[in-house]
Amino acid sequence: MQDIPNNIRKLRAAFVLSEDQIKDIAGEFQKSMAHGIQGKESPLKMLPTFLTIPTGEERGIYLTVDFGGTNVRILLVELKGHGDYHILDRYVFPLTSARKDYDFTSEKANGTELFEFIAEQISNLIPTGSDYPLGFTFSFPSRQNKVDQATLIKWTKEIKTSGVQGRDVSQIFQKALLQKGLNGIKIRAVINDTVGTLLTAAYGDKYTDIGSICGTGHNTCYLEPRSPVTGEQMIINMESGNFNVLPFTGYDSWLDQRSEIPGEQCLEKMVSGKYIGELTRFIIRDFIEKGLIFKGSCPEIFFSPYVYKAEDVSTFLEDKGEDLPLIAEWLNTAGISESLLEERVTLKTIASIVVTRSIQLVAATYLGVLQHIDPHFNEKHTIAIDGSLYEHIPGYATMLRATMNNLLRDKPGQAGTKLTKEGSGVGAAVAAALVQ
Ligand code: GLC
Repeated sequence: MQDIPNNIRKLRAAFVLSEDQIKDIAGEFQKSMAHGIQGKESPLKMLPTFLTIPTGEERGIYLTVDFGGTNVRILLVELKGHGDYHILDRYVFPLTSARKDYDFTSEKANGTELFEFIAEQISNLIPTGSDYPLGFTFSFPSRQNKVDQATLIKWTKEIKTSGVQGRDVSQIFQKALLQKGLNGIKIRAVINDTVGTLLTAAYGDKYTDIGSICGTGHNTCYLEPRSPVTGEQMIINMESGNFNVLPFTGYDSWLDQRSEIPGEQCLEKMVSGKYIGELTRFIIRDFIEKGLIFKGSCPEIFFSPYVYKAEDVSTFLEDKGEDLPLIAEWLNTAGISESLLEERVTLKTIASIVVTRSIQLVAATYLGVLQHIDPHFNEKHTIAIDGSLYEHIPGYATMLRATMNNLLRDKPGQAGTKLTKEGSGVGAAVAAALVQ
C-alpha cells in the first residue's frame, strides 16, 4: 500500500544522516585529503594556489573579475587594511549577448569569444588607458604552476564553452584585454572563489583558515601548514565538490547520469544550488508518478529538467503559514490551482529533507578538514562561507552551525562559520595585493 507517511519515512531514512554516519564521512574525507596532498589517487584534486593568508597590510585599488557561473561580476575594490575595504564600482552581467540570443557558456561559443565578451564589458566600465592590477576569480578546477596562470582541467556546473579545457585561461583573458585596448590591465592573480572567500575573511580575522562556497556549486579550500610544493604554508583548493565516498541514493544516480559529467562532482550534485532543485523536483515527480500527490494531474514544472530551482526550494522552506499559503501561491503560478494541504506539506517536507542532507554533508567535510589541520582542536578556526544557499536558504546557516557544534561537542567554540559576502570578488583584490 503506497501512502505518503511511509514514503516520506523511506526518503528520510535514505537521506538524513546519523551523527555516526556524518563522522564516518568526515573520516573518509580526511583520508582523501591526506592521499590527495601526497599525490596519491584521491577524489580531491588538492590544487596548489601559490598563495598564503594576508597580513592585513595589503592596500590599494584593484580591479576584479569574478567568473564562476552564468553571471560575471566586475568590482573595483579599494583595500584599506585590516579587513576594511570599499567597493568603488560594481557591474554584474550575464554571459549572454545583449540580444539574449547567444550564450557564451554553451558549446557553440569558444573561449576567445567568451573572454572578449568579458573584456568588452570591462572596457565599457573602465576608461581606456587606465592602469589597474587585476585579480581574476575563475571558479572551476584549474591547475596552477604560479599564481597568475591557471589551466582549466574541466568545466563544472554545466558550463560548456568550447576550446577552454586544457588551456591557460589567464593567457586567453589577457589577450582579450589587449584586443579591446585595455593595455594597462594586467592579470596579477587567478584564484578560485573559495580562495577569495578565505582571503577576504582572513584579511580581517586571523583565525580564518577555511574558505567555502555553498552556492550554485560547492567547494572548500584551506590553509595547508606544509605544502608539498614549497614546504611552507599554502592555501589548497580541494575541489571538494568531486568528493565521492558518499551514500548515493537512486535519486542521486538518476541526476548524475543525466548531468554533463556523470560520475564526477558527486558531492556537488548532492549539496549545491545547481542541483538541489533538480533533486527535489525528481523526488516530487516520483511521488506524483506513484500516485501519492496531485493524483491524475501532471504538473509540467515537475516534469521539466532544471526548471524547478534552489530559489523554489527556498520558497517552500520559507512558508511558515499553517495552510502553507506561499506554496499554494507558488503552485497556482505553476498552473496547479488546487492543492490539498497534505500535498503542500509533502512538498515542503521533501525540500527540507534534501536541504538537511546538503547541510549534513557539508558539515562532514568541514569536520574532515578540521581533523586534518588540527586533530585535537587546539586552535580556533573561522570557516568563511559565501554563496546563495548559505545566505538565502531559510535555516541553512543556522543548521550548519548547530551541526558543527554538535560534531565538536567537546570543543564547540573552536570552529565558527562566518558569512563572507562578495568574498570571491574582494578576495581577488587581496590576492592581487599579495603578489605585488
Ligand atoms: C565548482 C567548481 C569549483 C568552485 C565551486 C563553487 O565546484 O569546480 O572550482 O569553487 O563550484 O563555485
